[in-house]
Amino acid sequence: MNAIEVKNLKKYFGEVKAVDDISLKVKQGELFAFLGLNGAGKSTTISIICGALKKDEGKVFVNGFDIDTDIDKIKNDIGIVFQGSALDKPLSVLENLRSRAALYGISGKEFDERMTKINEMFELEQVLKRPYGKLSGGQKRRVDFARALIHNPKILILDEPTTGLDPQSRIMVWNTVDKLRKERGLTVFLTTHYMEEAAEADFVVILDSGKTVAEGTPNFLKEKYSSDSVKVYNDVEKETLKQRNLDFTEENGYINIKAKNIAEAKKIIIENADIFDDFEIIKGKMDDVFLNATGKALQGGDE
Ligand SMILES: Nc1ncnc2c1ncn2[C@@H]1O[C@H](COP(=O)(O)OP(=O)(O)O)[C@@H](O)[C@H]1O
Ligand SMILES: [Mg+2]
Repeated sequence: MNAIEVKNLKKYFGEVKAVDDISLKVKQGELFAFLGLNGAGKSTTISIICGALKKDEGKVFVNGFDIDTDIDKIKNDIGIVFQGSALDKPLSVLENLRSRAALYGISGKEFDERMTKINEMFELEQVLKRPYGKLSGGQKRRVDFARALIHNPKILILDEPTTGLDPQSRIMVWNTVDKLRKERGLTVFLTTHYMEEAAEADFVVILDSGKTVAEGTPNFLKEKYSSDSVKVYNDVEKETLKQRNLDFTEENGYINIKAKNIAEAKKIIIENADIFDDFEIIKGKMDDVFLNATGKALQGGDE
């Protein structure tokens, strides 16, 4: 059974086709990445999946339950970290988490036990008594994660969770997500514009203006939308390269030869070992995938 299945989903805001016939499947235990620029339709899709926004058309199933008829059964299974915060700013972190847990019927000793685990995971001891609104960006995000996980959901939905985080908080967040996936088989639905996060995913869907433009495993997407290459730094006769039918360009200080994949790059080096002395193989990158699939460059990443 799929953790999430979306079929021909549509949501228009007047003229804006925010979600325009999207279908996708997220397997249980998978890290699924939903990649797209601002305005691509990621948050709208998420809001529909968790029942916060009405769809126009299509079907959504979570753990086999139809959101149209069984939203109550679904709500316990999903934890969500929203793009913006969903917590009460004047309340303390502990009060926020306590009232959140109460919505799921978790209180008293059970709540204390959950809090012990959550504190360990997200190092919250220092901030529990402080108002949520006064925390730093990284601290807030950690509390957002705690809020999303307080009821032990099977599916964690993360809407650009690490945007704006300091590197240390980012690492902590990812380590925790990794741990939860290993220990509990947590399914993670991630939206991001960080390519390195999408490269870690089991499956990636690339969205542009409400439509899926490419999908597959990171390796599949790299094979299809980016090319590997051989860079040759020593002098070689261009005529010889032409005679040998190599697909090359002259760059500043080196010759770049395109290869379909690593196997072909290796073959190129072996077959031309007589003229290549100084060279390296460059693997295709996920950044090229996004550019080649959408014709647009990803922005907002800070790496
Ligand atoms: N409540 C709304 N009313 C009108 N337009 C909206 C609303 N929510 C989103 N949109 C529009 O829908 C499109 C998709 O938005 P969104 O799902 O937030 O994209 P993403 O999360 O990928 O940045 C954008 O053009 C956005 O302006
Ligand atoms: Mg968004």
